[in-house]
Amino acid sequence: MKALVLSGGAGTRLRPITHSYAKQLVPVANKPVLFYGLEAIAEAGITEVGIVVGDTALEIQQAVGDGSAFGLDITYIRQSAPLGLAHAVLIAKEFLADEDFVMYLGDNFIVGGIAELVAGFKKSRPDAHILLTQVADPSAFGVVELDDTGKAVALEEKPAVPRSDLALVGVFLFTSAVHEAVLGIEPSARGELEITDALQWLIDHGCDVHSTTISGYWKDTGNVIDMLEVNRAVLEGVKGRVDGFVDTDSEVIGQVTIEAGAEIRGSRIVGPVVIGANTKITASYIGPFTSVAADCRIESSEIEFSIVLAGARVQGVRRIESSLIGRDVEVTPADGVPAAHRLILGDHSQVRIAS
Ligand code: DAU
Repeated sequence: MKALVLSGGAGTRLRPITHSYAKQLVPVANKPVLFYGLEAIAEAGITEVGIVVGDTALEIQQAVGDGSAFGLDITYIRQSAPLGLAHAVLIAKEFLADEDFVMYLGDNFIVGGIAELVAGFKKSRPDAHILLTQVADPSAFGVVELDDTGKAVALEEKPAVPRSDLALVGVFLFTSAVHEAVLGIEPSARGELEITDALQWLIDHGCDVHSTTISGYWKDTGNVIDMLEVNRAVLEGVKGRVDGFVDTDSEVIGQVTIEAGAEIRGSRIVGPVVIGANTKITASYIGPFTSVAADCRIESSEIEFSIVLAGARVQGVRRIESSLIGRDVEVTPADGVPAAHRLILGDHSQVRIAS
């Protein structure tokens, strides 16, 4: 069995972070989302993995390499444009050959891994097996309608009027039957070859599409709120460890990870929190559910329930909450204009100012 991991796409809902960065590499507890998926695949006993990449191919390749760090053997498959999940399957045909495979969306986060699911699929081998979960906003997902016996009968991608509240989770198991399906469908109104259409094709052609409804923890990390929520959930399970320096004027409470080279001076850190290597925190408060990546500088500031990416500098800011701060971003007070905000914001930035 092989795995196909989808790490192309545009990441519009995580802009501006994803103007310059692959959304699958945005860190959760200081580890890229994609890595959790790769670890789950390795844990399920799969070693041959194809990663579909687009414009951010280079970054993904630099981060993942040949996969040996995960115990995986990785083949990169270049997709010319984000033409849809089923298009990704189409272009991966040569890599997949006729083998069964698990398709894993690189921006999805599933607690508990996929080992059991993969083992179950190997035993029963339906043509496809999908995972569903109840969501509050089905029109943001692929929506599946089940009949009275619990069998999937109709699928629709991001419907304006959803026929159920069951969304497709970003892990799919397929036999080679799917290759005929992706050849048999046409691009949708938004110009993508939809995986929902490929699954519908399988159902309409008498193939066996099994589904399991999961109630466990799953998130598509496509937007900032979900990203912060996944970060919160992961941090809750991280056991603290102090490899960096904490001075005697500082207080570290709860589960806090401080990586080597990090320095905490005159600050209060209330876990769960992770602080990346070589980050310096001075005269500040870092509150629960915050991940600060490597090489950041935080001075005289308060940050809680946030993700701060590598190289960011936050200085003299009273309080930051529920925020995603990009790489090498600077947040500092405006000199000489105490009541004013001075902003240099990239395209699609979002700022909520306490007024
Ligand atoms: O997260 C679950 C949802 O994922 C499902 O409910 C939907 O049915 C499914 O279409 C998908 O919807 P999204 O809008 O979340 O898909 P997104 O465009 O974010 O792409 C998911 C991943 O696949 C992401 O890592 C980018 C990658 N991708 C996407 C497209 C469209 C590719 O590699 N190539 C592509 O052409």
